[in-house]
Amino acid sequence: MSYALITGASKGIGKELAVSLAKRKYNLLLVARTEPLLKEIAKELEQTYGVSVQYNAIDLSAADAAEDIIAWCQKGGYDVSVLVNNAGYGLHGAFEKLSLDEQLNMMWLNMSTMVQLTHLALPLLKRHSGKSYILNIASTAAYQAVPYLGVYSATKAFVLSFTRALRQEMKGSNVSVTCLSPGAVETHFMERAGMDKVNKIVKQAKKFEMQPNVVAEFGIKALLSGKAEVIPGVGNKVGAFANRLLPKNAVEGVAKGLYSPEK
Ligand SMILES: NC(=O)c1ccc[n+]([C@@H]2O[C@H](COP(=O)([O-])OP(=O)(O)OC[C@H]3O[C@@H](n4cnc5c(N)ncnc54)[C@H](OP(=O)(O)O)[C@@H]3O)[C@@H](O)[C@H]2O)c1
Repeated sequence: MSYALITGASKGIGKELAVSLAKRKYNLLLVARTEPLLKEIAKELEQTYGVSVQYNAIDLSAADAAEDIIAWCQKGGYDVSVLVNNAGYGLHGAFEKLSLDEQLNMMWLNMSTMVQLTHLALPLLKRHSGKSYILNIASTAAYQAVPYLGVYSATKAFVLSFTRALRQEMKGSNVSVTCLSPGAVETHFMERAGMDKVNKIVKQAKKFEMQPNVVAEFGIKALLSGKAEVIPGVGNKVGAFANRLLPKNAVEGVAKGLYSPEK
């Protein structure tokens, strides 16, 4: 069986995407920064599913990280047929108060690394003798501007737009391209974004939160059946659709109230 290369596979949605692909007998190439977690997951998935799991602990926000990952794949001679661009994070707060460096780092990871990895992995995916797949993880935040998550939501709008365009370009090739846009999912996302101490946001998230294994399974089914763009959860789907119909100013005003940093 061929290999699936998954970024951000040490926890959260990425870890569960790895499980969903291992269940389908894909061998795995796992990437994230935390080596002990990757090692543990690799052992667990090899034992449970009898697949081969390799891992690479690397900071994907470094400028040459994507090149290093592809060089690692080439050196190992792995037949890569799936690329999952999942690594990413958000930053919550007023744009002018958040550190500029941190926001630029997030933009690099969420957008540039994804673009670099996709560009560099395409020759490998095309070389695979059967069907190949790219799954990019956006967010329901891709469907509207979100005050106090402004740069994050803009990075996810980029992911969605890029993914749809690439999908069109890949038609007629062996590569199918899919975008998965989750709403709130119970992972380390809120903590890393700095939202886990804002009670009203936590309360709202708890009402709609999905489990990462459910979101991952939904995403992998969509990927392998060649879907263009999917949103897990009926409420999330309705919300994203409603955002297209309602006046932008009203939608953004509601989000501003919800995401304002005041507790
Ligand atoms: N959870 C949500 O509510 C939600 C909603 C919509 C979209 N998403 C998107 O889903 C994706 C996965 O997030 P999650 O919710 O699963 O969050 P998470 O639990 O924080 O997991 C993020 C993953 O990305 C890895 N990562 C973060 N920074 C990295 C870096 N610089 N280099 C390499 N790996 C890095 C983390 O591993 P290490 O820490 O080990 O590096 C971890 O494996 C993200 O793109 C996020 O924007 C999440």
